[in-house]
Amino acid sequence: MHTITELIQKEEARQRETLMLIPSENYTYPEVRAAVGSVLMHKYSEGYPGKRYYQGNEFIDQIENKAIETAKELFKVPHANVQPLSGSPANAAVYMGLLKPGDTIMGMNLSSGGHLTHGHPNITFSGKFFRSVQYGIEIDGSIDFVKLREQILTEKPQILVIGTSAYPKLVDFGKFAKAAEGTDTILMADISHFVGLVIAGLHPDPVPHVHVVTTTTHKMLRGPRGAMILVTEKGIAKDPDMGKKIDKAVFPGLQGGPHNNVTAGIALALEKAGTDSFTQYAKQLVLNAKTLAQELMERGFTLTGGGTENHLMLLDVRNKGLTGKEAAVALESAGIVVNANAIPFDPSPPGNPSGVRIGPPAITARGMGENEMKIIATYIHDAIENRTNEEVLVRIKDEVRALCKLFPIT
Ligand SMILES: Cc1ncc(COP(=O)(O)O)c(C=O)c1O
Repeated sequence: MHTITELIQKEEARQRETLMLIPSENYTYPEVRAAVGSVLMHKYSEGYPGKRYYQGNEFIDQIENKAIETAKELFKVPHANVQPLSGSPANAAVYMGLLKPGDTIMGMNLSSGGHLTHGHPNITFSGKFFRSVQYGIEIDGSIDFVKLREQILTEKPQILVIGTSAYPKLVDFGKFAKAAEGTDTILMADISHFVGLVIAGLHPDPVPHVHVVTTTTHKMLRGPRGAMILVTEKGIAKDPDMGKKIDKAVFPGLQGGPHNNVTAGIALALEKAGTDSFTQYAKQLVLNAKTLAQELMERGFTLTGGGTENHLMLLDVRNKGLTGKEAAVALESAGIVVNANAIPFDPSPPGNPSGVRIGPPAITARGMGENEMKIIATYIHDAIENRTNEEVLVRIKDEVRALCKLFPIT
């Protein structure tokens, strides 16, 4: 039996020696890791800067204010809450703050690439305590905005959630806003997956079009596990109390004391996200994703939607004669870590889907570029074609380890 310290060391080695290709994962900066492991976690700070229920928050207030101000500046919004403990609680806080139980949430369905918290029926809070209506994509991966408008006019949702977890195309927030024009529907963008592309100007910006934006901070932003809620000018114009309502839903509605160590990590990651070097990272990420997608298609893989416009791709592995789970397991044996994922109109159940989701945010953070994407496409191809050949899988795993060694995690 290993000690916890030994297990952490083993996990550290696993991350160092394998290709982290799950598009929602990334490496934080050393400064962020130091902040998260700092004395800040000793402190209770229920409330908000200047209005705490505990004494001793002189420095915590300054840290949280810095995170809030950096977020407001970066996204050009009048209100930011940096306390949600993660992405799902952030979405819950928006619903709790702005809706009544039983109101209608309209979000993209899971198999089209939406997230569970966007109204997935029966098993999530968003589909149990609210009435859920889901929209989906067309067979070519596009969204039919005429159909969407009809659905909005018929279902009259109190909130329309615009966001994705497994969608390889750009999201046109302006078209969503147009589809909801003339209605009282609140528009919420969940940009957790592609927040870095929005900051770098490589993805349409939701801020001019929606009332509220949520995002996690641990994916492309390279911050700690956490989330933020932003209220836009449009949101304040719709309801001047929108920010206050959301703050109240976060605390005391859903949470107690904020995780101050994480708040400091968020502030640091946001500062980094405003630099030229982050913009460079985001540009390289998109280039890497496009290169990897192209190279995989050239090796006979089917990509849903015909490729990628952002940081991720969905491989439909049915033509390779295996399931998504079998592909993910074979790749893991070769040191390539991905996740099985449903593809649009998947004939198989979510527990055993037909696809794998792949994205290079983490390996781009390690400094890998287009050349490495070509090598990795070959590894993926060879591992899947030789999935029952232990010798080949071990050989690829060794090569992956050697490649990783050239690109150390900072
Ligand atoms: C779009 C989107 N929203 C919310 C979440 C939930 O975030 P968390 O896992 O931090 O609760 C995710 C997680 O993958 C996501 O992709």
